[in-house]
Amino acid sequence: MTPHISAQPQDFAKTVLMPGDPRRAKFIAENYLTDARLVTDVRGMLGYTGTYKGKPVSVMGSGMGMPSIGIYATELFKFYDVETIMRVGSCGAYQDDLKLYDIILAQGASTNGNFGAHFMPTGTFSALCDFELLYTAYNVGAKKGVKPHVGNVLSSDIFYHPIPDIWKSWSNLNVLAVEMETYALYTLAQSMGKKALSLLTVSDSLVTMEETSAKEREASFTAMMEIALETAYE
Ligand code: HPA
Repeated sequence: MTPHISAQPQDFAKTVLMPGDPRRAKFIAENYLTDARLVTDVRGMLGYTGTYKGKPVSVMGSGMGMPSIGIYATELFKFYDVETIMRVGSCGAYQDDLKLYDIILAQGASTNGNFGAHFMPTGTFSALCDFELLYTAYNVGAKKGVKPHVGNVLSSDIFYHPIPDIWKSWSNLNVLAVEMETYALYTLAQSMGKKALSLLTVSDSLVTMEETSAKEREASFTAMMEIALETAYE
């Protein structure tokens, strides 16, 4: 057991899917996994382990933001022998060719925060995903007829940014979308010799100001979840 996870040492599978919302973790466990059992619920951050096509897979909420996913990812990698974490989340589009419900595989993450400085105080660390996971997920998506977008995302420390147009600076650097967790996840995975990939569904657009409702989001995440599970299975 760790300060934030009440599971026993062998309770987690080698691969953990991480949505931000713990209730989505419950939904994934109940709808996609077989024989899923609750393995942790500290602070309501639900985690489950079951099987997908016979292979053990876990799913656990990460909470919102880099400090939150940083705590759970560290404890899973370090104390539960987890090898792979796949974030399954949402993002806000920064490019006009990204439509609502499109899927992004985050090849790398940039940040307006300082998470990387704790690992590399004198420079700027570029946080990258695991290439094999990216390659597999891309091909799984393409085979399903979903062509994922691949590129850089911004992991932001702030959702309600006080400077209205600052996102355009990231957009001009071809950053595809904004979310709040991937930079921390990738940095931790790289620092511990583990594997990580973020799969993101576009839930809103900074370009068109379109957004989805919570109910629509729940239904639309199906394709992303299937890509993540098939990638875990490969
Ligand atoms: N900003 C930050 N995180 C997000 C957004 C956004 O617009 N949409 C989904 N996650």
